[in-house]
Amino acid sequence: MEKTEKAIKHGAGRRSFLKKGMAATVGAGLLLNGNSTLAEEASGHLDAGDASILRFLAAAEILETDLWQQYNELGGIQDKEVPGGTGNPAYTAAVSVLDSDMAQYIHDNTEDEMTHEQFINAYLASKGADTVNLDHFRVLPSSEATGAQQIGRLTNLMQLSVDTTWYTRYRSRTKNPDFGDSFPQAIPTIATGQHPAIPRSDADTSDANHLQAIANTAGFHFATIEQGGTSLYASLAQRVTSLEVLRIVLSIGGTEIMHFQTWQDKAGNAPPLKDGDVVFPNLNAPPLGGEDFQTNLIMPEPTIFLSRHFPPCSIIRPTETKGVAMGALKFLSSSNLFLGQSKAFFAYLTDLAEDADEARRL
Ligand SMILES: [Fe+2]
Ligand SMILES: [Fe+2]
Repeated sequence: MEKTEKAIKHGAGRRSFLKKGMAATVGAGLLLNGNSTLAEEASGHLDAGDASILRFLAAAEILETDLWQQYNELGGIQDKEVPGGTGNPAYTAAVSVLDSDMAQYIHDNTEDEMTHEQFINAYLASKGADTVNLDHFRVLPSSEATGAQQIGRLTNLMQLSVDTTWYTRYRSRTKNPDFGDSFPQAIPTIATGQHPAIPRSDADTSDANHLQAIANTAGFHFATIEQGGTSLYASLAQRVTSLEVLRIVLSIGGTEIMHFQTWQDKAGNAPPLKDGDVVFPNLNAPPLGGEDFQTNLIMPEPTIFLSRHFPPCSIIRPTETKGVAMGALKFLSSSNLFLGQSKAFFAYLTDLAEDADEARRL
């Protein structure tokens, strides 16, 4: 244990040294292919670890806002709170098959992410700490379907691999990812390959079955994103030092849990269908159904927590804190959410994630 901690500390110290060295070199204008994003960020009056955690969360919130904005432009409600698109009636109708209130929920989730992003950056700035701005990386194409703004995006919702293991993970009574357990996909056919979660153009809206497959994919992706936020905040909270920053992380993290809970309920309403290789099975009928698949089992089943010696407990999971920021970044990258992004984009996000993972509670 002590050895591991020493190794982490040594690694962190070496990395900080390299970063400071890099910053100095960039400052002197000597590094020809220098990447200034690797310069050490300022923490102002905040504990350096707290500032790093908040910066990674700010980046995550900016990315969430970008993807939710795309969903809202096509399938949500356009108003002063969430301006941008003009709506795609066919996609909105297909999404509403999962719940007649989907457009409102998409709108509200989008607005929540915008406020998370703005609040965290404003808080960092109020403490004299560096904030996060990803505008430079808004280079990915928009959907060409009716309703979408034609602007550069940070995220790609048109070629996704949607991990749906959260579905069985929250229904398991015996397994927990923090114990190294893995979980079956609820919808294996969208977990690999590339699938649109929004119409790429109006051509995607002409076949009702194909459009429903896209809407179903979105319905599962909503929960995939928000369960990630649910675990990320709970995991990072364990390494926050200031009580006020802990309050921020717990309070924002709680709304991610509320989002996930809503989407988990709606995903189960995705109508069974087959569209080419994509299959949305009836999750309530054999060979599925039962504890692991029954769609109305939307409260977290009690499972093992901390130690097998304790009685099972209903919890969010995972909440292991070690390496969680890099884990979140890798999880999102492996879903193709950033497909087409530049090396500089990944370098910057990796840097923010590594800094967050180096944070230690003092
Ligand atoms: Fe958020
Ligand atoms: Fe979220």
